[in-house]
Amino acid sequence: MILVTGGAGYIGSHCVKRLLDKGYAVVVIDNLSRGHRDAVLTGDFVHGSIGDRRILEEVFTRWPIEVVMHFSALAYVGESMERPAEYYENNVAQTLTLLTACRDYGVKYVIFSSTCATYGEVERVPITEDTPIAPLNPYGHSKRMVEVILEDFDRAYGIKSCIFRYFNAAGADPSGMLRERHQPETHLIPIVLEVAAGQREYVEIFGTDYPTPDGTCIRDYVHVNDLSDAHILGIEYLRSGSPSMIFNLGSEKGFSVREVIDTCECVTGRTILVKEGQRRPGDAPRLVAEATRAKTLLGWRPERSDLRTIVADAWHAMRCCR
Ligand SMILES: NC(=O)c1ccc[n+]([C@@H]2O[C@H](COP(=O)([O-])OP(=O)(O)OC[C@H]3O[C@@H](n4cnc5c(N)ncnc54)[C@H](O)[C@@H]3O)[C@@H](O)[C@H]2O)c1
Repeated sequence: MILVTGGAGYIGSHCVKRLLDKGYAVVVIDNLSRGHRDAVLTGDFVHGSIGDRRILEEVFTRWPIEVVMHFSALAYVGESMERPAEYYENNVAQTLTLLTACRDYGVKYVIFSSTCATYGEVERVPITEDTPIAPLNPYGHSKRMVEVILEDFDRAYGIKSCIFRYFNAAGADPSGMLRERHQPETHLIPIVLEVAAGQREYVEIFGTDYPTPDGTCIRDYVHVNDLSDAHILGIEYLRSGSPSMIFNLGSEKGFSVREVIDTCECVTGRTILVKEGQRRPGDAPRLVAEATRAKTLLGWRPERSDLRTIVADAWHAMRCCR
């Protein structure tokens, strides 16, 4: 049985669908602070917080949990700068409660959603797992702290983990049943598509004077279903007795903000109104993954992470899904 924390959120809900499609038994815990109940496609749903020891005891007593996929977190960089206490409480302290319950109830494996924000402003791309860690904000620090806790829990209690450092998750399940629904939305592709759909007036580009070919920031977009597949491969990796490991998950290709907007115009056939704004503090010019380790050790093969497919799937889901 797999316990998915944050399974009502964007990536968690996609992973739950993928797990169910492949025949895994899944239970979701989510406090719905940021997620959507109707995105959870399994009946085994617990409305609660991962920091609530009593609820966790009920969950671990009722279901024989072998693997915990830990997606739940607060995940806005800007918000974390303004409200660090909430980020450390929710992402670190509550995760410690969850992991302690995992120890007490004999959970063997944990798969954790970390982030490329742990690397901070890198000097060189592509970014490997050995690139020095230097988070720039409480969100990135909170994720790094959990990585360290997992390393200690492996040494002391034998809980094995896959730590996945996602780059920019994007796209949607091609069925159109699920989509990205953050409120407020801060991710580029859904924002641009909201402009295309007439739900937003324009997209603001934060900085047009970066040292990149067109002056806008370059990011690595990875399809949410490819992320989900990596999680499923992670289960098999851990079950085979392999050691705990950190993996980058990205497409290994970088696209500028302008290239993303152009692709969205192409896919939707609509004109996107753009406003050029100032740089945001802490935005690195270029973040692109090297994901060789995931390909080699997990056999991960991203199948939908070309930008056009990502945008097409997101656009399809936006028009189909609630
Ligand atoms: N979206 C990305 O591009 C991206 C990139 C890197 C890492 N991540 C990480 O991946 C994970 C999922 O991201 P997402 O975009 O799906 O976020 P999301 O906000 O859509 O989902 C997070 C879910 O966790 C739930 N939650 C939050 N705190 C909780 C708590 N204490 N107890 C129970 N439930 C709680 C929320 O209600 C929400 O449903 C996060 O850990 C995030 O940091 C995301």
